[in-house]
This record gives sequence, structure tokens and C-alpha cells, in this order.
Amino acid sequence: MLKKAAITLSVDVPEGLMIDGYPGSYGQILTNLFLNAANHAFADGRSGAITITARGRGSDDVEIIFADNGAGMTPDVQRQAFDPFFTTRRNEGGTGLGLHIVYNLVTQQLGGRMMLESRVGQGATFRIIMPRIAKGQPTIAEQATDGSTQWPNRTMSST
Ligand SMILES: Nc1ncnc2c1ncn2[C@@H]1O[C@H](COP(=O)(O)OP(=O)(O)O)[C@@H](O)[C@H]1O
Ligand SMILES: [Mg+2]
Repeated sequence: MLKKAAITLSVDVPEGLMIDGYPGSYGQILTNLFLNAANHAFADGRSGAITITARGRGSDDVEIIFADNGAGMTPDVQRQAFDPFFTTRRNEGGTGLGLHIVYNLVTQQLGGRMMLESRVGQGATFRIIMPRIAKGQPTIAEQATDGSTQWPNRTMSST
């Protein structure tokens, strides 16, 4: 799945930026965006850069920007990118669920919003703005029958 390619990754997160939420969800969000960059932005061994930036926004929100400078998307692909089962790589094993899952985690579980900017040949930028303290609902998997919270734990994570 991951081919050998010269992809540089830079992460710019200020020290001490705290997010109180669902660490498992952040992991899944970043994993899906990273795999998409590898599979779509930098397909066929194309090289380039991925940058992840996080910043506090006011006292309540945090902004996370995930950007690549790869192949980019046409306006048509961009419009459908978050739709379930939309993929431009159906024949190469694409499920079309990666961005749909990311969008749902951001907007529902983490109570945030998400925007996509892209141009063909100029890469893609995903901008996520969400509360520092997640306001969304835990998923069913996290809710035990007695109402107590199960995995993944809601914990403090320092990024
Ligand atoms: N970083 C990216 N650069 C270019 N196109 C992308 C990028 N991320 C997603 N896409 C486009 O959005 C579509 C949907 O992505 P996704 O929901 O993760 O499905 P999948 O990865 O299975 O194709 C992809 O098929 C691709 O066309
Ligand atoms: Mg994907």
C-alpha cells in the first residue's frame, strides 16, 4: 500500500497546546489523511511534502491544518470527496470511506467543522476547526450498557 517515495513530513504544533477529547479519533483522522496523501496526492512515486500545523484559535478552539503539495483535485472531485463510497481509485482498492469517516469524526464526535481547498497540480489542504474540549457525542463503541465510558478513553492529551 505504501510505496517508496520521497515524502517529507513536517509537524508544527506549539508546545503545551492541550486538547481534551478522544485521542483515538485524532489518530484515525491523521492516519486517514496521511494515507490519502500517500495514495492520491503522491501516487506513482511522486515526491513532495506534507505539513501538519496546529494552532490555538481564541481560548476555545483549535485549528489543525493538514496540507500536501501533491496532485490536488478537480472541483468535481473536491465536491464529492467527503461523500460515502466516493473514490477515484475504485479499481485500485479505494473504498471511498476515508474522508467520510474523517468528516464524521470531526463534525459529530469532536463537534468541529472541516474545509477542503485544492487545485489540480497544487495539492490539497484540509482545515479542521474544533473546540479544544470535545463537545460531540461519544460513539456507541465508547458507551457501555451501564453508561460508563469504555475504550477509547476520554483523556487529556498534550500534543
Ligand atoms: N490528499 C489528496 N489529494 C488528492 N486527492 C485526494 C486526497 N485525499 C482524497 N482525495 C480524493 O478524494 C477521494 C475520496 O477519498 P477517500 O474518502 O479517502 O476514499 P479513498 O481513499 O478510498 O479513495 C479519493 O478517491 C481521491 O480522489
Ligand atoms: Mg482514503
